[in-house]
Amino acid sequence: MEAVVPSAAQVSPSPEDAPERVAVLDFGAQYAQLIARGVRECHVYCEILPAGTSPAELAARGVAAVILSGGPASVYAPDAPRLHPALLASGLPILGICYGQQVLAQALGGEVAPGSPEFGPAELEVAHAEGVLAGFPPHTSVWMSHGDRVLSPPSGFRVLARTDHAPVAAMGDPRRRIYGVQFHPEVAHTPLGTQVLRNFLHGVCGLQGLWTVEAFVERAVPAIAREVGEARAIVALSGGVDSAVAAALVARAVGERLTAIFVDHGLNREGEAEDVTAAFTAAFPGFPLMRVDASARFLRRLAGVRDPERKRRVIGEEFVTVFEEEAGRIGPVDFLVQGTIYPDVVESGGGATATIKTHHNVGGLPERMRLRLLEPLRALFKDEVRAVGATLGLPDALLWRQPFPGPGLAVRLIGEVTGERVALLRRADAIVRQELQPLGLGREIWQGFAVLPGIRSVGVMGDGRTYGEVVAVRAITSRDGMTADWARIPHEVLARLSARLVNEVPGVSRVVYDVTSKPPATIEWE
Ligand code: XMP
Repeated sequence: MEAVVPSAAQVSPSPEDAPERVAVLDFGAQYAQLIARGVRECHVYCEILPAGTSPAELAARGVAAVILSGGPASVYAPDAPRLHPALLASGLPILGICYGQQVLAQALGGEVAPGSPEFGPAELEVAHAEGVLAGFPPHTSVWMSHGDRVLSPPSGFRVLARTDHAPVAAMGDPRRRIYGVQFHPEVAHTPLGTQVLRNFLHGVCGLQGLWTVEAFVERAVPAIAREVGEARAIVALSGGVDSAVAAALVARAVGERLTAIFVDHGLNREGEAEDVTAAFTAAFPGFPLMRVDASARFLRRLAGVRDPERKRRVIGEEFVTVFEEEAGRIGPVDFLVQGTIYPDVVESGGGATATIKTHHNVGGLPERMRLRLLEPLRALFKDEVRAVGATLGLPDALLWRQPFPGPGLAVRLIGEVTGERVALLRRADAIVRQELQPLGLGREIWQGFAVLPGIRSVGVMGDGRTYGEVVAVRAITSRDGMTADWARIPHEVLARLSARLVNEVPGVSRVVYDVTSKPPATIEWE
């Protein structure tokens, strides 16, 4: 993975701001972000850096301890990622996880056996409840996912635990403060996983846990005020959590020198434009917020467009055009505020774990309008963003909204986007959300919505034959939207949904429930 180089003005903690910091060195792990999040949950600031980062770079960043992530390689592969040769002599405390433990064992003279894969739960037999295993019971369940395994530890290390398959499931050298675990403490399937991180951070490294969102807000507000100075900033509010919290934070710092623009493309959910603008105005009375109703021009541009990627492109381009026109009315502007968050930064950084996405609707604008980017949430995870929003007084209804695609209802409506079909889908979607709300929509249910698959189907209502639209209901559980499972919602809820959709939405003749996970399907239908 490339080092994450900030491209623009940003407010992420400097070593002085976050005096305790830990680096996760990424060996290509699926789970590097989970490790970093786990460390943040222990109130220690944490960032993800490339596997071979040098001790000098770590020192420059003020890193006090290092966690080596897992990774898909075998330490015997010729191109396997390696530690920086000087890391082990740097005196930094180190915790190696999975591949991280193997790379430690290999570098320090232990024995690693190739080709002995193990996936899934295993019972950990704890021989010495000390170091990263302090406070562990003699037996506990852990999650394994590895190809090689450590057969014997390097000299100076004690074997702390084993499993049937892994003779060195945890090892430690308290003198050098170097530990390794074969299992994954960062996943939910390892019930005592957080305790491993806590033991390492607080017990082994002696870190106190000074990272809190309140402290972040206290530092960020004056830092943003300094950065913006007397200049003006704009932000595109979308109704999403990230842009709302970024706007709130910058508004707190620069007041009326920030203008928010809500471009209503007419493809929003029922009540969305009103809810978002009302929540904002309530939290920041007098805050300059322009709401632009551009629905007619979006519909015109979408006429005849059926291909999902073209829909996205058309909507993205029109969004930028409208936003630019509106921004032009404000007068000279220097900064564009964006709600980029840490997973966006990591995912756009390239390298072994990358999943590149286009995250923002205002792509292209900064260059065209010569705006500097202000991305005050670049260092934060989603749960931290929500906590910052709550600290700033944004209501739960805004902070716990389910994710909604930028192109809105247009990509939940297969085929052509017409005013009538958007209206029908919007009504159906409102009913689905109402019925799913009591089941924890936005929390337990990550997303729940209606789709128009563009199929017509025969029905019978009263004494007449009908030939109306099919509505598909999609409700999923997920941790991050990357994978998802269909939600097991109660039959009574499905029954109510079906009755309400057919009875209350004219033009709907049939309701189906989508029972596909991701993969193989995606969450959205287009
Ligand atoms: P998929 O459908 O790829 O969706 O499983 C994963 C997550 O991304 C959201 N999504 C989008 N968000 N613009 C967005 O801003 C888009 O074009 C878009 N497509 C999907 C989707 O709602 C889910 O949360």
